[in-house]
Amino acid sequence: MKKIAHINEKIKSFNKKIYIPGDKSLSIRWILMASQAVGTSIAYNLLESEDVQSSLNAIKKLGINYKINKKNCKIYGKGLNGFSFKNNTTINAGNSGTLARLIFGLLVKSKNQIILKGDQSLSKRDFSRVIKPMRMFGQNIKSKKQKLPIKIKGTSYPRPINFNETKGSAQVKSCVLLAAMKTPGKTKIKSIPSRDHTEKLFKYLKLPIRISKGKKLDLISYKGVKNYKGFNYVIPGDISSSSFFIVLTLLTKNSKILIKNVNVNKSRTGIIDILKMMKAKIILKNKKNYNGEDIADIFVQSSNKLKSINCPLKMNSRSIDEFLLIFLTCATANGVSKFNKIGELRNKETDRLKFANNFLNKMGVRTKITNNSFKIYGNPNLKLNKKYKIEKFDKDHRACMLSFIAALALGGKWAIHDIDSINTSFPNFIKLLKSLGAKIS
Ligand code: S3P
Repeated sequence: MKKIAHINEKIKSFNKKIYIPGDKSLSIRWILMASQAVGTSIAYNLLESEDVQSSLNAIKKLGINYKINKKNCKIYGKGLNGFSFKNNTTINAGNSGTLARLIFGLLVKSKNQIILKGDQSLSKRDFSRVIKPMRMFGQNIKSKKQKLPIKIKGTSYPRPINFNETKGSAQVKSCVLLAAMKTPGKTKIKSIPSRDHTEKLFKYLKLPIRISKGKKLDLISYKGVKNYKGFNYVIPGDISSSSFFIVLTLLTKNSKILIKNVNVNKSRTGIIDILKMMKAKIILKNKKNYNGEDIADIFVQSSNKLKSINCPLKMNSRSIDEFLLIFLTCATANGVSKFNKIGELRNKETDRLKFANNFLNKMGVRTKITNNSFKIYGNPNLKLNKKYKIEKFDKDHRACMLSFIAALALGGKWAIHDIDSINTSFPNFIKLLKSLGAKIS
């Protein structure tokens, strides 16, 4: 059954401290890395969401046990060669692009065939990006049009590769790194910078990774093969989920929020830098480092004099999952905002560039869209008073949550469909909004 949320009034001013659930990228990476460790690993504050559950289901299908309760999650790893499963075992990655792309790497040596599938949205997405490097390692891959479902069988003798990662995709880079971990010899990656959680985890585990950061490209090398012991990890809050509350606060009069203990890894904080360039009032407090990851509390105040932005290209990968929120903010800013080389947004859970364009036009905001760029003609006096129905977004969790923020910050009468989609990344999103005073039925 389709679940629909109705919002008929703006949220009133608030002043609150909140905690956001664990980071999705780190939760999935912890699961995959713990599945390769020797012995037990424990995670605290692991995100409870459908994408994370799909990752736990996947390692279980590959013969790795786990236990989860309210307090923690334990994974009983059996080392780099610890997977055991029958021929033609099926793994369903659900909606998770990260799981589906990264798992290829872990299957570089699998003796039996895996059939990898996903939900409708994931089945439309591009897998040529991981098929190409994985074939270079020697993995056998059968697919129609490089889309799911895909049949994967490993090789007993993987070869190290030299790979150029040209999309700024952390999923592709991480897939190659996970394969390199199981491949004797030196794998080298030249990569457009993207989120670097995998590299940071490798370093924390003292694995043989080398990184040199250039102006435009990162040079990463990994010398396989090294086993490592089980490890414990406290997952910090998710910056992408936090961003919905950052923007809601900016756009709501006389409001303040303190978001505690968020992962503010530099490769993820493009949204904060962009919003600050637009004159948003955001401060990072209480900064610390945890196992190589930067963590801070994020303090935000309503900001009613926002300026447009000509978004620097280097922000694109650093804010890849936050563009819908950035576009909404630009719609209320003074001046024309410009974004270039953002075609990757068309390859997400839905075509986010097309969605954003329709969404803003529906709100009466002028835009100009091309295949790879977007212009937004901001209106600081934007007030919504019509009826808005949001229903065609391929169940993209972020498109769905964006609609809640627009409704609560700008007004109008909203019917938001397919709200179950939110469960892929942020199941307590609506509860948290209600705790700030939002009226949602
Ligand atoms: C992710 C990388 C990004 C991001 C996704 C999570 C990750 O995808 O959009 O939500 O955890 O590595 P790309 O690698 O395709 O840019």
